[in-house]
Amino acid sequence: MANTNSYLIVEPAAFIKGEVTVPGDKSISHRAVMLASLARGRSSIRNFLPSEDCLCTLRAFEAMGVSVEKQGKTHLIIEGKSGVLFPPFEAIDCGNSGTMMRLLAGILTAQPFYSKLIGDYSLSKRPMSRIIEPLRMMGAKIRADGPKDTPPLIIEPSTLKGIEYRLPIPSAQVKSCILLAGLFASGVTRIIEPVASRDHTERLLEQFGVRTIREKGEIILHGGMKLEATDIEVPGDFSSAAFWIGAAAAIPHSELRVRSIGLNPTRTGLLNILLRMGAQIEESIESYSKGEPIGSLWVRGNKLRATVIQGEEIVGVIDEIPILAVVGALADGVTEIRNAQELRVKESDRIKAIVTNLRAFGVEVEELVDGMRIKGKNTVQAARVESFGDHRIAMAFSILALRANKASRIDDVDCIATSYPGFQEDLRALTQSSTEGWAEETKKIKNFIMGSQKFAKATELEKKELPYPVITIDGTTASGKSTVAKEIAKVLGFTYFNTGALYRAVTWKILALGYDVHDEEKAVEACRKLNLRCVIRKEDSFSQASILVDDQQPLEKELRSPEVNEAVSIVASYRKIREWLLPFQRELAYKEPLVVEGRDIGTVVFPESPYKFFLDANLEEREKRREEQGERDNVAQRDRLDILRSSAPLLCPVDAVKLDTTKPSAQKVVEKILDILWKKGLTISRGKMD
Ligand code: S3P
Repeated sequence: MANTNSYLIVEPAAFIKGEVTVPGDKSISHRAVMLASLARGRSSIRNFLPSEDCLCTLRAFEAMGVSVEKQGKTHLIIEGKSGVLFPPFEAIDCGNSGTMMRLLAGILTAQPFYSKLIGDYSLSKRPMSRIIEPLRMMGAKIRADGPKDTPPLIIEPSTLKGIEYRLPIPSAQVKSCILLAGLFASGVTRIIEPVASRDHTERLLEQFGVRTIREKGEIILHGGMKLEATDIEVPGDFSSAAFWIGAAAAIPHSELRVRSIGLNPTRTGLLNILLRMGAQIEESIESYSKGEPIGSLWVRGNKLRATVIQGEEIVGVIDEIPILAVVGALADGVTEIRNAQELRVKESDRIKAIVTNLRAFGVEVEELVDGMRIKGKNTVQAARVESFGDHRIAMAFSILALRANKASRIDDVDCIATSYPGFQEDLRALTQSSTEGWAEETKKIKNFIMGSQKFAKATELEKKELPYPVITIDGTTASGKSTVAKEIAKVLGFTYFNTGALYRAVTWKILALGYDVHDEEKAVEACRKLNLRCVIRKEDSFSQASILVDDQQPLEKELRSPEVNEAVSIVASYRKIREWLLPFQRELAYKEPLVVEGRDIGTVVFPESPYKFFLDANLEEREKRREEQGERDNVAQRDRLDILRSSAPLLCPVDAVKLDTTKPSAQKVVEKILDILWKKGLTISRGKMD
């Protein structure tokens, strides 16, 4: 029932910005506790989700004699009971969790004692016939005591046998319940799954030493196999990150990085849908921790296009429909969700809850038996809505509230704790820079400079006006920046400074010292220890700034090696490294007139320069140029890393002149830039500009 004592006030925000690491995966946390409790020996579970739902599972197994050592809130050491649990003294409370009740029922049917499973108001209304039917076919003695096969569940001891069962609805909970019962059944359990649902149980069983055969939509398990203790690292919950991913994708100017997130393909259907809607998302899988892919996502905000979500796609986004409906409400056109009748029996009737709340926010929506049609708009009207006791409804509408004209109120938000403790803090952190506004952003940039100790003069430098002209040339990889910038420097007699070479020099040294550039903390630490110096070399008519690292000047071929090419955009994406190198770049402008080339020169390093240019060319042409230079470089990948990084991403400064260099020769581009500079008032005298 609605607890209007708990509420969340959400202020509008212009965009989402920053990095987030969401808490551990709910589905995996439940399963890890269950399997570790049944295994022989001590298992360790790291990054366990200490949410209400998963704590219910943990308490249930403790009540059945499992000893759990807690090292902080998220690291558990579980001493398994080798398949035989103790009878609990009272009914097992599954709280709000359908996953817990359905999976546990599979385990308890094979235990030699009576048990009773109860749940809260919402869980007490959810259908259990979907598990009762196959479990009874296996020989289980199980019944539901509520109306229409709803909880409580009453389970009596029984002997189980394997069955062949075709899932009538795609459901990971039903599949997992049968597999867990199948562990204790005689013979083979064969599940036919017409549409693949999340496969965490299968993957975890394998980690605990029990192999299932998985092919052509079938899962086969031989009964009687024993689980052996293991160590589990739970990835960040994709379904929790989904709120930020949806928000960042749909709100223009957003920039988000999600770290250490589970990227199991049975869970990431949201990404495919968002990409189809026109989202800018980059995915990188960094490890396979105990069978589950884990990685990072980068998301940039865009105006999205409406889409149709239906059929087999639904199971892969079953928990993401609330946020998808919100994304649809902000997209251009009519988004349709079909074949999602399963939503009517989730933690709330999610179709009704979504439709009611969208209407409160002034969004036009048509309710369908199995989904809805949503007419998108740019902004919505502020509203007071309730969560219907459903965590995902509360979180999804907190996101929609960001796009309202004034503050909105979401009532009954305690339920968020069932899956995402810390949601409100993350909401605050990710919207902070947008509510502080751009003035604050600029202040932060200034703080980088003031915060630096190594470059002591930075504070003074920052306050002073630039004494010499600085021409900024930003652009994409292989867009011709170097050729053009060098030429302009020559013509004007200015010093050429390639800031890319600075990042390359730092990357080269970090690699040479043997650090893994993916380890951000170590890379930052290594960078801070470097002694960087800039020397200006004047040769003939060309003056150039060169970087010395620990008094050594790296060779051009070292700076452009395939290893450095691959690592430089990663090193350059680390905010702390960019902050550290910022005053170093500015310092030079107090010594010489400069032509500075890079990726954030006009936006961050010299935002005050009136002479800004941005070069770009089509991808094919740029790839061709790299090839012609004989360099191995993944241009598209570099673009993505540069554009999507959260700190000082590659952007065309608003006040820059943008030039397409696909067709014109470098000489033509140089002439164009010189012409513009002349018109801006930089005049050439004696071969130099004043
Ligand atoms: C879950 C499976 C899904 C999902 C739920 C968690 C699981 O339910 O909605 O949040 O952990 O197995 P269904 O299997 O009923 O679709």
